[in-house]
Amino acid sequence: ITGPTRADALLDALDRGLPHGEIPVGLFGNQEIYDRELRRLFGRCWVFLAHESEIEAKGDYVLRKIGEDSFIVIRDEHGGINVLFDACRHRGVQVCRSDSGNTSHFRCPYHGWTYNTKGDLVGAPLWRNAFGGMPKEGNGLTKAAKVASYHGLVFATLDPSAPPLEEYLGGMAWYLDLLFGLNEHGMEIVGAPQRFVIDANWKSGSDNFAGDDYHLGTLHRSVWEIGAFPVPFRENMMGYHVQAAPGHSLSFSMAPTEDEPGPKFFGFPEELVATFDTSRISAHQLDIARRSRVMVANVFPNFSILALPMTEDGAHHPPTGVVTIRTWQPHGVGQVEIWNWFCVYKNMTPAQKDRAYRAGLGTFSMGGAFEMDDTEPWITVSRTGRSVAADLLDFKLNYQMGMPGVGIAKPVEDWPGPGISYWTRYEEGVQRNLYRFYGDMMRAEPGAWPKFSFDD
Ligand code: FES
Ligand code: FE
Repeated sequence: ITGPTRADALLDALDRGLPHGEIPVGLFGNQEIYDRELRRLFGRCWVFLAHESEIEAKGDYVLRKIGEDSFIVIRDEHGGINVLFDACRHRGVQVCRSDSGNTSHFRCPYHGWTYNTKGDLVGAPLWRNAFGGMPKEGNGLTKAAKVASYHGLVFATLDPSAPPLEEYLGGMAWYLDLLFGLNEHGMEIVGAPQRFVIDANWKSGSDNFAGDDYHLGTLHRSVWEIGAFPVPFRENMMGYHVQAAPGHSLSFSMAPTEDEPGPKFFGFPEELVATFDTSRISAHQLDIARRSRVMVANVFPNFSILALPMTEDGAHHPPTGVVTIRTWQPHGVGQVEIWNWFCVYKNMTPAQKDRAYRAGLGTFSMGGAFEMDDTEPWITVSRTGRSVAADLLDFKLNYQMGMPGVGIAKPVEDWPGPGISYWTRYEEGVQRNLYRFYGDMMRAEPGAWPKFSFDD
């Protein structure tokens, strides 16, 4: 059977609806859409896999996913980072059976083919009898098409035609600098990543972290009630929404001037701020970092970042700067595995690191006070996405906030950073930016990349 499919119809509805701030909810529940996402988004985009500090020593590895497929991310004996498809070249058996570790080789449990840290096939039992004469070259583990890191954040893509990582990040790189590049030491991961599965579609996480600040006052009201966050809700809505590059969006809660009372530099301790080497970034980046209370961002498709002042216990501890990075790992159309890492600056004292980790664990983590707030509504978004009624009744989602005539948000003419910026966070262009690029990628033919510009 050929001809337009349900997925085509949903993508057409997205194309037609987006200029009016309308999105078809079926994108959150349609199996065919999901299958296409695995191939056209996760099979092509730069996907975040690990932080370099997780694999510091030669032979260190972690097992991660691109889409639903497992990849070994390993530091080889020359210090290079390899991203190896975790499937034996003999029969496709999974060769890596641990989430992380240190090794010089991987030995397939089925017949014993053995690979080194670069993925080369180096031996197999009874080689001469079984394969004598067959070259080992060309029979190693299959590698991701490209691997690159930015401020220690390791990404890979399966598409050899993908643009270089920095080109893919575009303007978002400028904003990553002003969080991850504040001193020469950079950041590291503290603890192991948390993982938990929710019956929601992966896009709900990306959508939320692209800049859904509006939900804070309702869903996270308890944040203010227990004094966990130092900026009043209405004041916290003041700041900027930025479409940093096609697909990549972020949001800043920001004091209008530098002299404003309240947290600066995302609430990092003053002794840490004193060590920031501010010559590493531009005066504009520095100004934004200094005035920022919160930064929340999503790198398309599923890598999110949150930096903000938080406390695990408002009654006993003042808030401190917490940085969480996370991926919304697709796990079928109706499930997402959330991966959550906490980052600290390497030059923080052990006490500062411990405090940041505890404040993060108490709030934005599997057992955190606020994480559960978010995941519950997403479960019902996914249910609506699957519903027959939504389909029959032509149900559409409203993403109109901040469009001309809707609300108070206005474009910022003299925004000093890359991309398009709006003042006040009562704005949903950050999410429309995500879905515009989403639609472009879902329609792009293999090899062809959508234009990385906002010009239509
Ligand atoms: Fe791996 Fe045979 S499947 S050695
Ligand atoms: Fe939230």
